[in-house]
Formats: sequence, C-alpha cells, structure tokens
Amino acid sequence: MGFKNWLQTSFPINEEALVSISSEPIPNHLKRWWWALGGTPLILFLIQAFTGILLIFYYVPDPDKAYESVKYITFTAKFGWLIRSIHRWASNLMIATLLLHMIRVFFTQTFRSPREFNWIFGVILFLITLIFGFTGYSLVYEQMSYWAMKVGTGIAAATPFIGNWISDFMKGGSEIGQNTLTRFFLFHVVILPFIAILAISLHIYLIRTLGVSTLEFKRDVNEPKKTFPFFPDHFYTELIIVTIVMAILITLALLFPVSLGEKANPNVTPLHIKPEWYFYPVFRWLKITNLEVGILGPIFFILMLFSWPFLDRLFEKYFPGKEIGFWIGAGGLITINVFLLWEVFGH
Ligand code: HEM
Repeated sequence: MGFKNWLQTSFPINEEALVSISSEPIPNHLKRWWWALGGTPLILFLIQAFTGILLIFYYVPDPDKAYESVKYITFTAKFGWLIRSIHRWASNLMIATLLLHMIRVFFTQTFRSPREFNWIFGVILFLITLIFGFTGYSLVYEQMSYWAMKVGTGIAAATPFIGNWISDFMKGGSEIGQNTLTRFFLFHVVILPFIAILAISLHIYLIRTLGVSTLEFKRDVNEPKKTFPFFPDHFYTELIIVTIVMAILITLALLFPVSLGEKANPNVTPLHIKPEWYFYPVFRWLKITNLEVGILGPIFFILMLFSWPFLDRLFEKYFPGKEIGFWIGAGGLITINVFLLWEVFGH
C-alpha cells in the first residue's frame, strides 16, 4: 500500500466535502475591502495568540517578578522586544479594525433580521477585546499598569448594586496584589481566549449559514448577481491582507518599539494616569461627571449596543423612513470622537 492510500485508509478525508465547504460562493461586493473588514481582526487575533504564547515562555505572573520578566523579554531575550512590540501594536490595530468593522455593519444596517444574533456575538467580541487590552496592559506591572488596575477596579466598584462584588472579584481581595495579577493573567491567557474562540466560531457559523448580506450598488442593479468562490479567490485576498498587516506591524515595531516605564509603586501616584486610547472617551466622560452617575453612561452604552437590532426595529415601526437609527448612530459616533480628541488634547 502506498503512503497516500495508507493515509486515506487510516485518516480518511472526504475531498468532495472539503471542496464544497471551501468553495462557498461569496457575493461580489466582498471584493471591496471595507465590506470584508471582519477578516482583519480575525488575522490580528491569530497573531495575538501566536505572539502571546511566545511571551508566556518568559512572563512570570507574580507582582515581585512580573516587571523583571517583561524587562528580560524586552532587553535580553532574543527578538523579545520584537514579539512584545508586535503583540502591543496588533492589539491596537485589532481594536481599530474592529471599530471600522462595527461602523461598516452599523451604517449598512446589516445587523437587521436575520442577523441580530451575529451583531450580539459581535458586541461580545468587542467587549472581550477591550478586556483583553485592559488585562494585558496590567500584566506588565509598570507604574501605569498598577494605577490602571487601581482606577479600573475603582470604576468597576461604582457599578450600581454589584459594584463592590465586581471590584473584589477583580482584585481577589481588598487590595491589588498577587491574587489580582493571577486573575488578570488567567483571564488574559485562558478565559478570554476561550470565550473569544467560541464567539468567533458562532459568528462565523452564522455568516456561513445566513450568508453575508447582499447590497446592490446603484450601478450594479441591472447586472446579474455575481459571486466568486471562497477558495482560492477570497483566501488569496486574505493572504494579501495578512502580508500587508504583517508589514505594517513590523514597521511599527521597528519605528516605535514598545517601551517599559517605571516599576509599579503602590506608594507613589503618577501625576498623569492615562489608559490606552480606546478607553479615552470613557475616561473623559468620567472626568466630567461624578463617578456614581458617570458609570451609568458606559453601562447604558453597552445595553444600547446589545439591544440595537431590536431598538432599530422599533424606530422603523413607529417612525418609518425617518432613519432615526442612522441619526442616533451618527450622533453617537461624533460624540465618542469628540470625547476621544478632548482627552488627547485636553488636560
Ligand atoms: C474578533 C472579532 C470579529 C471577527 C473576527 C468578525 C468577523 C466577521 C467576518 C469575517 C464577517 C463577514 C463580513 C465581513 O468581513 O465584514 C463578519 C460579519 C458580521 N459581523 Fe463581525 N467580526 C468580529 C466582530 C464583530 C463586531 C464587534 C460586530 C458588531 C458589534 C460584528 C457584527 C457583524 C455582523 C452583524 C456581520 C454580518 C454583516 C453582513 O452580513 O453584512 N462583528 N464578521
């Protein structure tokens, strides 16, 4: 028996099924990058998983050793600075491309029936990605990490009714210390990846079963609906995007390698505590309100996101054709950007 026959007998692969799964017809408008943007955060997620696993080889989740281990990765381990820089930059790009993907889905109204669940899985993925960012930032255990944990757990404590419980759960006690770091580490490398993989699988399952929404551009109306096969056409497009994303990441890592601040010191509060840019709008909002009232803003925003497909349906039912959803979305987007810029340029 030849090798191929032996393999086919001992590990049978149904080639026809493989071809039919991979050659799924994709609507022609997915040739436009902004329409197929969802693939980019997926690529970045895979890069994060790969570089993250490499970082765990040296990272030590212990308040006395974490900072030193990151220092070792950055200055001593071969290519450690590169892997760490790519991991940091890819997290930023993942959030940026995720936001673009959400904006595209929102303004093309493709969260509408039958894609409500896909929007909801998307919102879960968005929140998980933000928590990935927050927990990852804290693991470095530099001054900013420590004080970001302090501010973050303080904000969580202001949540009505369950705030203290959430804050204690995050800290694993009354103070930030070993338990906090263990928990943040556990979430960052086990629990969040698990939920993310589950949510991405469900998201993709629904895309495959419901299909990507079709949109007719004015000039396409009279043309017959064109499609192209996922494999090899779309697969190659994604490969090109992988190449471009890698080139951008390596350029950013070379030009702006990730730095290391001072070691965490619970007794010295830094003059300016700044979170990562994607928390700027919330941070600015909490600065101009008092915490007890301010916390209701992000909670309200998250609830709006989850229920958006159903709210939009109500708007359409009671105010048909007025595009209320569009105007709320546009207003929300402008406000978020104003808050972001305010935090960038304000004090
Ligand atoms: C890791 C995160 C995510 C990944 C990997 C992902 C992946 C994808 C992919 C590959 C598509 C196919 C069409 C396209 O590429 O645009 C898609 C569609 C979709 N995504 Fe995402 N997505 C993510 C997060 C989100 C978020 C945050 C939302 C919204 C809150 C969202 C909502 C949707 C919806 C409603 C569709 C169907 C759109 C249509 O058929 O036109 N996704 N997603």
